[in-house]
Amino acid sequence: MRRSLVVGNWKMNGTRASAELLAKGIIAGLGSDVADIAVCVPYVYIPYIADLVKDSPLALGSQNIADQASGAYTGEISASMLKELNCQYALVGHSERRSYYGDTNESVAARFSQAQAQGIIPILCVGETLEQREQDQTFAVIDEQLDAVINLVGIPAFYNAVIAYEPVWAIGTGKTATDEQAQEVHCYIRKYIAAKDQVIADKIQILYGGSAKPDNAKGLFAMPDIDGGLIGGASLDAESFLKIYHSV
Ligand code: PGA
Repeated sequence: MRRSLVVGNWKMNGTRASAELLAKGIIAGLGSDVADIAVCVPYVYIPYIADLVKDSPLALGSQNIADQASGAYTGEISASMLKELNCQYALVGHSERRSYYGDTNESVAARFSQAQAQGIIPILCVGETLEQREQDQTFAVIDEQLDAVINLVGIPAFYNAVIAYEPVWAIGTGKTATDEQAQEVHCYIRKYIAAKDQVIADKIQILYGGSAKPDNAKGLFAMPDIDGGLIGGASLDAESFLKIYHSV
């Protein structure tokens, strides 16, 4: 039985005060230990949130990570820096990074590898655009996104990784994939991994992301291959994020 994981992606929102308040609100409402839970916060707030989550089940993550270990890479944040601040997770390949900031399949693979080199669990985001879905390219796109990483790090590296399926057309649009649409792709991803390593396929957490909310989370999480969620907008409010967490 896989343990579920719910991850909040705060994106570029909030102030130091609102971030601290949100983290405190989440910790206060966790209650029974139903699943793994983490928040991926803006880089500059990581030290403050790290202090708050220290003795709680709430884990901390970053929203990206450098594709190099160190050196002349102005503006980048390395895996060792994030490790020093107790980041346990790092998003890699979020569609906003891919589409607005030019993160490629190759650089995403390098980021994945850098995270793991420091013992940070990469959350590899994959997903198709609306146009790609309409052209029946969903699975081909996912194959390419997964292969770029598998080719660099090898399938055993997925033993300590998470995959998030986030259809680009569902992110921040209010348009969620139906339970069946999401399950179809999750099942496809698990089979793709299983063809290379059954043990890893059985173990790996595959999260759904894209307009997941308290009122649709339960249905999504009830699907056999959906092991939790990567939550954007709805993770900015402690109450709605906790409702989603408690629906696993
Ligand atoms: P959303 O974002 O829940 O606001 O659609 C999800 C994500 O981008 O991770």
